[in-house]
Amino acid sequence: MAEEIKTPAKIKVIIDNITVEVEPGTTILNAARKIGGEVTPPAMCYYSKLEGSGGKCRTCLVEVAAGSTADPRPMPKLVASCRTTVMEGMVVKNITSEKVIDARNGVVEFLLINHPLDCPICDQAGECHLQDLGYDHGRAGTRYQFARRTFKREDIGPYIQLHMTRCILCYRCTYVADQITEKRVHGIVDRGDHAAISTYISRAIDNDFSGNMIDVCPVGALTDRTFRFKNRVWFTKPMDAHRNCDNPKCCGKATLWMRGDEVYRDTSRKDEWGEVQSYEGKPGWICNTCRFEKKKANDWEVEGPTEVSRHSVIGQNKYDSLSIPNDPITPMLNGKKPKLLMDIHNVSEVNKPDIHLGEIDGPAHGDDFLKKV
Ligand code: SF4
Ligand code: FES
Repeated sequence: MAEEIKTPAKIKVIIDNITVEVEPGTTILNAARKIGGEVTPPAMCYYSKLEGSGGKCRTCLVEVAAGSTADPRPMPKLVASCRTTVMEGMVVKNITSEKVIDARNGVVEFLLINHPLDCPICDQAGECHLQDLGYDHGRAGTRYQFARRTFKREDIGPYIQLHMTRCILCYRCTYVADQITEKRVHGIVDRGDHAAISTYISRAIDNDFSGNMIDVCPVGALTDRTFRFKNRVWFTKPMDAHRNCDNPKCCGKATLWMRGDEVYRDTSRKDEWGEVQSYEGKPGWICNTCRFEKKKANDWEVEGPTEVSRHSVIGQNKYDSLSIPNDPITPMLNGKKPKLLMDIHNVSEVNKPDIHLGEIDGPAHGDDFLKKV
């Protein structure tokens, strides 16, 4: 008799007052991604298509206000949402927690101790996750008084340049080398403020999939030498395109970054979290031939403009139908105006509950309240 396969019951978790149901074993971060929008913590090192990634950068910290229905005690410290799995009845606070915002500000301050604010001359500007984080959580000045660590730029083969000064040691490129190329020949050497990507990274260029390291790098530490300083991403128009690639590991689907008919750069296609899209359950990595050698529009079958869904400058003024990221706040407010997060009558007896300031003509005076007493 065929054995009955039971699908495990889904788990209910509340994140920023929004309830979501997910499979057991889902991390808080992925549960929040199911809700989308601002409720989702930022992630600089986690990358869903790279096994083992996450747990390095601490940008995804959240507060667990109740551990589970069985044990509703809060967790004593903020936890990394990319590494913590949900429990039935868990209550999580992200943007509704002052502690989280404060901690995230601190994490960004630490990341920016060594990472230079050279966005005006960095090729990653406009698609850099640290730039976005800096806008949301950065301080106007720095409190750091010591010498910052700097490195010389290094060309690692004809296609990739490493600028270690910008590296935030997220390890994503090492996971790409481990999991997509045949042999990893680079890694992070030394510890503490001496930690750096090993120069043996230069050997990784032998592999046909090394270009994917550029795509996963969240900052401008690994850049495409064939595109450096050629254009700003927001002046180009991203177009979805595909070709019949004979490399069986290459998905053959790419984004062409064009200006007029000219193709400036080929990258893998990204999803709303800035990660490569999946096709039939597999990550859509592209080979170096598609990425670096097919730079003519007629090398590809162009499908049409790429939908830009991140709140990125790339989409500004470009499309009529720019898809706006899912806004979970409006339903949470239950019809109230965004600024009226709290009804004063619910929490204070100072104003008479039956007198509404909005219904009084002109400015309110003491008399307005006395009349109805
Ligand atoms: S080079 Fe980029 S991808 Fe690699 S560890 Fe540094 S920041 Fe991460
Ligand atoms: S994304 Fe969770 S620690 Fe980096």
